[in-house]
Amino acid sequence: MQVERVFYFRDESTKTEINVRVPEIVDPQYGMFTWPSAPVLAQFIWHSRDQVKQKQVIEIGAGTSLPGIVASLCGAKVTLTDKEEYSECLRNCHHTCHVNGQDSIKVVGITWGQFSPNLFRLPVADIILGSDCFYDTKDFDDILATVSFLMEKNVQAKFWTTYQERSSSCTIEDLLNKWGLQGAEIPLKDFDADQGNVGGSSLSDLHTIHMLEITSKGVE
Ligand SMILES: C[S@@+](CC[C@H](N)C(=O)[O-])C[C@H]1O[C@@H](n2cnc3c(N)ncnc32)[C@H](O)[C@@H]1O
Repeated sequence: MQVERVFYFRDESTKTEINVRVPEIVDPQYGMFTWPSAPVLAQFIWHSRDQVKQKQVIEIGAGTSLPGIVASLCGAKVTLTDKEEYSECLRNCHHTCHVNGQDSIKVVGITWGQFSPNLFRLPVADIILGSDCFYDTKDFDDILATVSFLMEKNVQAKFWTTYQERSSSCTIEDLLNKWGLQGAEIPLKDFDADQGNVGGSSLSDLHTIHMLEITSKGVE
């Protein structure tokens, strides 16, 4: 069954607003519907839109792609990626771009931890996005292998990622060290994502979401 959500991001001071239409398919595949971390990351991008304008942005595990679409609407050059084998999800990424008038966005199959030809062909990223990619510990090392590969091409690149707290014992600290990366938590109140109804939706309201900025070690 196909459904559509609409998110909006507004700046009350300048009365600017963007709307994003997100087609979803009720399906057991994780990438076919929007997860609570996505509006929070999208809100961070909207809040930081001066930083993404004209920048090369790559979203990993994009699923329904809300953060990547917001980055594109804020003037970034965006590439959306999801698992290479998930053709239905990649098709839905294309569809989301189309319904939002963002047909210039590229959609590429990238599987975390796989050094495939597609990975080598990606543009040099200034910003990498990942919403709710850290949910299964077996994937954490592969995710950071991919992120670290992308950051080696630009040591100044930033990985902006949101995740949903599911277990307090789960940490990526050791893996960040392994891959020469460092993470800093960004409080949700810093970008107005602490009040509920983020992106005009109650999706994130009942969950504890964290926002991290991950950079190469030694880079300010
Ligand atoms: C929990 S969903 C989050 C989707 C979307 N980012 C959001 O927040 O709504 C995880 C996403 O990671 C993708 N994914 C899962 N395993 C993957 C892998 N090994 N490589 C690349 N993407 C993967 C799934 O297809 C899905 O889109």
